[in-house]
Amino acid sequence: MRDQAEALRLKMMNSQRQVARSIAVISGKGGVGKSNFTANFSYALVAKGKKVLIVDMDIGMGNIHILFGATPTYHLKDYLTEQQQLQKVVTPIDENLAFIAGGSGLENVVEWSGQMFDRLIEAFSLLQMEYDVILFDMGAGATKSSIDLILAMDEVILIATPEPTSITDAYSMIKFICLQGANKTIHIVSNRVHKEQDGRDSVARLQLAIRKFLFMETSILGFLPDDIHVRNAVIAQVPFVKLYPNAKVSKRMMAITDTFLHNNKPRTTIESSGFIDKIKGVFLKGRV
Ligand SMILES: Nc1ncnc2c1ncn2[C@@H]1O[C@H](COP(=O)(O)OP(=O)(O)OP(=O)(O)O)[C@@H](O)[C@H]1O
Ligand SMILES: [Mg+2]
Repeated sequence: MRDQAEALRLKMMNSQRQVARSIAVISGKGGVGKSNFTANFSYALVAKGKKVLIVDMDIGMGNIHILFGATPTYHLKDYLTEQQQLQKVVTPIDENLAFIAGGSGLENVVEWSGQMFDRLIEAFSLLQMEYDVILFDMGAGATKSSIDLILAMDEVILIATPEPTSITDAYSMIKFICLQGANKTIHIVSNRVHKEQDGRDSVARLQLAIRKFLFMETSILGFLPDDIHVRNAVIAQVPFVKLYPNAKVSKRMMAITDTFLHNNKPRTTIESSGFIDKIKGVFLKGRV
């Protein structure tokens, strides 16, 4: 496995290919639409020519596969515990879209063995060279394990609804990340917006609070309306951007995707890839 990773790394360095953008999709309060956003955003990115991998990090409660009507045979744990090869736990959805199901039994990162971390690092060393974007659908709330993983990502997409409770929880989440000394690109998406102006006002207030009290800049990717097509697409187990391309929510998702792609910070190259080093740092912390 290590040889395989090294060979691919060398090949990629020679071809000057850039590594995947690693992105954690997070929220303060749960149930605000992270998984639906992840599934549809990934589909929209593929429609724009990107190769995307989703990692369902809502371990134990993961539902990404349901949104795609897919049934994973194996889970991340099967690979980490050496029961399966990496290819087996990557479930294809479309030509340029795949996911890794979290499964259960991995909830507590501090209980992982050294070999499991080695395998995780090997896996992402390979995967980040194969994909343009790796999206991590995080579970609700900020557990120790999920914060550690979020800290390893290059970027964060924060989902919040215009409700005051969602906005204050979103702010607390960013404050928590900020207090860990993390410096990362933060994008904000407002979801389930009833009135466009409310959506704009709520994210503008959130952005201002983060700037004023945490001294951090954020980028607003846009908003998604509260739309019955979302629920219908969940029932049909097909992403709404695919099933209802003309629905307002799908058009907004395409616009968000354009903003995200144009908002591209300088891509990390293989030589200076931060993600793998940060993952190593996070997992080695407190283990020696
Ligand atoms: N824009 C929207 N319009 C209407 N309904 C929506 C919208 N976005 C999400 N929903 C609904 O909200 C519910 C929660 O969505 P989802 O499962 O994506 O949230 P989540 O943040 O991943 O939740 P959890 O924190 O439990 O992982 C779903 O039933 C979904 O259909
Ligand atoms: Mg979810």
